[in-house]
Amino acid sequence: MSTLTIPGTAKETQTDFLPLQGTDYVEFYVGNAKQAAHFYKSAFGFQSLAYAGPQTGVRDRVSYVVRQNKVTLVFTTALRTGNAIADHVYLHGDGVKVLALRVDDAALAWEETTKRGGKSYMEPVKRSDADGEVVLSGIFTYGETVHVFVERNKYSGPFLPGFVRWDTHYNPVETCLLYVDHCVGNVGWNMMEPWVRYYEQVMGFRNILSFDDKDISTEYSALMSKVMSSGNGFVKFPINEPAEGKKKSQVEEFLEFFNGEGVQHVALATNHIVETVSRMRDRGVEFLQVPPSYYEELLDRVGPIEEDIRPLRELGILVDRDEEGYLLQIFTKPVEDRPTLFFEIIQRKGARSFGKGNFKALFEAIEREQGLRGNL
Ligand code: FE2
Repeated sequence: MSTLTIPGTAKETQTDFLPLQGTDYVEFYVGNAKQAAHFYKSAFGFQSLAYAGPQTGVRDRVSYVVRQNKVTLVFTTALRTGNAIADHVYLHGDGVKVLALRVDDAALAWEETTKRGGKSYMEPVKRSDADGEVVLSGIFTYGETVHVFVERNKYSGPFLPGFVRWDTHYNPVETCLLYVDHCVGNVGWNMMEPWVRYYEQVMGFRNILSFDDKDISTEYSALMSKVMSSGNGFVKFPINEPAEGKKKSQVEEFLEFFNGEGVQHVALATNHIVETVSRMRDRGVEFLQVPPSYYEELLDRVGPIEEDIRPLRELGILVDRDEEGYLLQIFTKPVEDRPTLFFEIIQRKGARSFGKGNFKALFEAIEREQGLRGNL
């Protein structure tokens, strides 16, 4: 069953105690930040932005920051064993550690969330350099993932204090990626509701869409999902949990290989999805493919669309429609060796939903990949 509650309607009576301006950055803890940054530059078209490491006085880690329009990614590697970054990579493989959120007041964000039961990751701390000052704070969410609140109104440097601008000769053409549309978390059995309540109570989010195991099931496996949205709708976090099926679901495979709960996919928005996906595919990004029959029934299902079907079919781009418009989307295969994190590329043409009409075709495609890995 799906219901869509539109922000700004009469239901919205409370004041937003955690006004979020959007995703500030996504930080990955990885085994080799230098090579990860190169991959996201070459394959996704990100640009070098900032660097921190031994040359800048940081002794235990190296971080590379890349950016494309409003999407900022940070790749961090431990330089030695026996610290939280090294342990994270040992346990989870390469994966998302931080979903950072931009706020006007990071101290207030920390106070409001921790007093409602959020577990502190970082008390408010002021950091400054010649380019100004920022205030950072943070709380834990599912698994070992954290939300860092970033207050940067008084900062003009490339990224954060402690980072220097990273200028390189290699600046590949971008791929029209614009901003983070949503980030999805996979949580354990029976843990979706507790995390839904966490986002409601601790962060003031609202559940705008729900999918049960009848919406999201194939012949073999199932999952359940609830989409949580910040009060102003700028930040959306769908939460998935596995559901009973004949075989192992993709969420179970994730939990097994990530060794716990974590970020399953990051959805990046574009206004030119054919161009974006063509460029990414040409540069080596692998996307999930649905069978050709998907396109035979497509227009009957979604009605008229502005795009030609042919490039959509060639690239494997999916289409879905809701009451407000339609969307185009496609999913990469996992971007690391463990079958964990992947990316979604999404173009919204009015639709504010998440592609429910594609779930079945999509999950069957995922199961084919799971089968090839021997994990179904
Ligand atoms: Fe998604």
